[in-house]
Amino acid sequence: MPNVFGAPHKGTGPDAQQGHSPVPPGVSRFGTHEQVVFCQDEASGLRAIIAIYSTALGPSLGGTRFYPYASEEEALSDVLNLSRGMAYKAALAGLDLGGGKAVIIGDPATEKTEAKLRAYGRFVQSLNGRYYTACDIGTYSEDMDVIARECRFVTGRTVEHGGAGDSSILTAFGVYQGMRAAAETVWGSPTLRGKRVGVEGVGKVGHRLVEHLREDGADIVICDVDEAAIDRVRSLHPEVEVVADSDEMIRTDLDVYAPCALGGSLNDETVPVLKAKVVCGSANNQLAHTGVEKSLADRGILYTPDYVINSGGLIQVADEIEGFDFDRAKARAAGIYDTTRKIFALAADEGVPPAVAADRLAERRMSEISRLRSILL
Ligand SMILES: NC(=O)c1ccc[n+]([C@@H]2O[C@H](COP(=O)([O-])OP(=O)(O)OC[C@H]3O[C@@H](n4cnc5c(N)ncnc54)[C@H](O)[C@@H]3O)[C@@H](O)[C@H]2O)c1
Repeated sequence: MPNVFGAPHKGTGPDAQQGHSPVPPGVSRFGTHEQVVFCQDEASGLRAIIAIYSTALGPSLGGTRFYPYASEEEALSDVLNLSRGMAYKAALAGLDLGGGKAVIIGDPATEKTEAKLRAYGRFVQSLNGRYYTACDIGTYSEDMDVIARECRFVTGRTVEHGGAGDSSILTAFGVYQGMRAAAETVWGSPTLRGKRVGVEGVGKVGHRLVEHLREDGADIVICDVDEAAIDRVRSLHPEVEVVADSDEMIRTDLDVYAPCALGGSLNDETVPVLKAKVVCGSANNQLAHTGVEKSLADRGILYTPDYVINSGGLIQVADEIEGFDFDRAKARAAGIYDTTRKIFALAADEGVPPAVAADRLAERRMSEISRLRSILL
């Protein structure tokens, strides 16, 4: 890995958002991350990076992204950003877990082999439980089963192997709970009945979100770049309206905009023309850069912080550590409703946008609970 000691710069991965600025003297290029592990196995071609942002609340947990990064520096930038986000997500999901993430550099369609996954599994095992892995872009439950042949610290496995299966089930449920909390804050009642909700991206999470919303009595508008995804929704719900693309979605008369496709959809171009009063969707890193949360607040749009409401999937796979129980995991994911309300209340009390309030609440839990380790047992 020739660039191991190169400073990270702006990432270009699928959720790339804010890059790291040049590192000032005396500051680690790994920010405040606890541990960053570069893994290489020449024979299998494995090149991976595991980043542990924090173990303040417990072992770190986060998925393994298998992605054809253009350079090792981009992979590093992505894994540092993502692992930090996982720590905040776990903290607000009420889990005793820290934040970690891993990336395997390569094209999953052509470069994923049993040997590479198992070599990776041995590196995860070598951390002896400081990091638990799971699925992410480019990795699937079946891959976790392969990794688990070398490693005990794996979640997101197939149901046949005691895993939780498709995490989008509770992700969608959690987003719906967050949306109910937003509806209560804006319209006084925790229901989307009669509201017009635009779901951008009706893939694994988005199409399940549509089910919850239809059951609740919402009117739905959808868009997707994949015709098959649109057809799947329309075959079950012919009354659902379809718009051409995300640009039209943003400009459509909506009560709620639910970005469930890619990150970065809230930016300097979209926020000024957004019609919805509430933003609440599953996509990671919806705010294109710092400051967008303030532009939303200035326009009177209630933004429901993405990492809070999309934590249902994390809750689902984390439950595997105890031995998966769907009802227990669902009950915990239902708590996203209360957490979201708490964030809106804190935002109002402290006069900050909800995204800032969410960070503050997560940081408070990390600091209050990790402090307990100072009590000698
Ligand atoms: N699956 C989970 O458990 C989970 C958990 C947390 C966060 N998320 C995030 O939620 C989002 C959706 O995840 P998913 O698992 O449903 O992924 P997915 O790939 O199944 O679905 C995404 C959908 O968005 C569509 N899409 C892509 N680009 C688009 C565009 N420009 N306009 C409209 N549609 C577009 C795709 O065709 C696809 O149907 C992602 O950002 C993901 O990171 C997912």
